[in-house]
Amino acid sequence: MRVARLESEIDFNGWRLAARALRAEGVAPEAVVWTVQRELFGEDLFPPPCGGGGSAKLVGGVSPSQDSSNPTRPLRGHPPHEGEGKSFSVPKAFVDLAETVILHRSPERLALLYRILHRLERQPRLLDNPADADVAKARDMAKGVGRAIHKMHAFVRFRLVEDVTPETYVAWFEPAHRVTEAAAPFFARRFANMNWSILTPDACVHWDGSLLTMSPGADPADAPSQDAQEEMWRTYYASIFNPARLNPAMMKQEMPKRYWRNLPEAALIPELIEKAQSRTETMVAAQPTKPSDRVLKAALKHARDGSFGESNLVNLEEVAAGIQVCRRCDLWRDATQGVPGLGPAKAALMIVGEQPGDQEDLRGVPFVGPAGQLLDRAMAEAGVDRGRVFVTNAVKHFKHEPRGKRRLHKTPDRGEVQACRWWLDAERRLVRPKVILALGATAVQAVFGKALPIGKTRGQRQVLDGDAQGLVSWHPSFMLRIPDPEAKDRAYAELVADLRLAWKLAG
Ligand code: URA
Repeated sequence: MRVARLESEIDFNGWRLAARALRAEGVAPEAVVWTVQRELFGEDLFPPPCGGGGSAKLVGGVSPSQDSSNPTRPLRGHPPHEGEGKSFSVPKAFVDLAETVILHRSPERLALLYRILHRLERQPRLLDNPADADVAKARDMAKGVGRAIHKMHAFVRFRLVEDVTPETYVAWFEPAHRVTEAAAPFFARRFANMNWSILTPDACVHWDGSLLTMSPGADPADAPSQDAQEEMWRTYYASIFNPARLNPAMMKQEMPKRYWRNLPEAALIPELIEKAQSRTETMVAAQPTKPSDRVLKAALKHARDGSFGESNLVNLEEVAAGIQVCRRCDLWRDATQGVPGLGPAKAALMIVGEQPGDQEDLRGVPFVGPAGQLLDRAMAEAGVDRGRVFVTNAVKHFKHEPRGKRRLHKTPDRGEVQACRWWLDAERRLVRPKVILALGATAVQAVFGKALPIGKTRGQRQVLDGDAQGLVSWHPSFMLRIPDPEAKDRAYAELVADLRLAWKLAG
């Protein structure tokens, strides 16, 4: 029996080196016991607890998955020493998978990965067989890890530490898997100007404005339990809560109860659910329902018709059905679904964005991802009730390109905007809003049929067909990308002002 000992639970390089040596020697998977030398990353060698500025391990170095140039990679973390066994290549997909799976809490994972590695020698296409039990298990673990990272990004809540200079925020979080280090770069980007620490039972991560550092796991008592900002956060959450989007079962699935105890807004959820019914009723009429065969037939005819004459679709249900089967340009091919506008059938205000993003594409609802959340916040600040606004996009399918596991937004071209304008025009004709607020250059092009410089024309009413008035403003996604905090705040304040004006003009 051979014993392979890793330095920590997530010591991927250690696993890689051990696995490489074992495989080069031809050691069978059943003959290996995988263990972790916990004390190396435990409190014994790092006496001060998290947040205490004690020993810390830098998060750095190039992770194996960053080298995407080579589809197969030698399975080694350093050049072989003389006399060491021969190196061999494994598919890059395996290295990527292993790097994720190692973050899973299952004690089985190390042996499972070695078994797959061992089998790859005889079955180089093993990973292509999703029915294989080992492959399926590893892929399931990788999915679980991905979900844990996603939940951590969504549910970490920072609290201000009192009487500490510079201002410092600390969050306590219990991730489902050992994803603290993997999740950390997201927070460094998102809260780049804050000093913060995230404490978890496995490891802690700290950001001082320029460097991410790691230290050993902590205890909930090390984190502050309340701060004044929580009241603000609860007020904000209550104001952006959209009853029409409430699905308690889905909410619990997305925001499992195990995370509630660290979420200040969780205390509000039962009450908001209770009140949601009455607030929802006004919006329900606008929810797309399953189209009848007649509707679908009519929609199909128009969806495939390349002409640009006025549509004769008679209601928003037909428009939504038509968008699902639209073939007027090629964007439908890579999208999950078309995303029609959402809101009351006779809304006085219509807000037009560019196109659905990743989350909108998955959920079929406009403006629910990061840009949507920023828009919700700006609307709440401007006193605009989203439940009374028809929110839609110039282009109804998500244009993107794959980059690893992510789908990166691509700006739609003129032809795509022009093809999709037919649907936007149909929505405009049916909703007949008094005011249309176009967010960003693509929406401006679609609504006004020409480009307008947003910085110069925002705040000015434009005349549109059918007595409607048009306004332009910044797109929330543009704001999310502005690096300079002052410029970002300025653009945000302008968006709030434009929303306020649009709401006022809509009466
Ligand atoms: N950006 C948009 O323009 N629309 C959406 O629905 C989401 C992001």
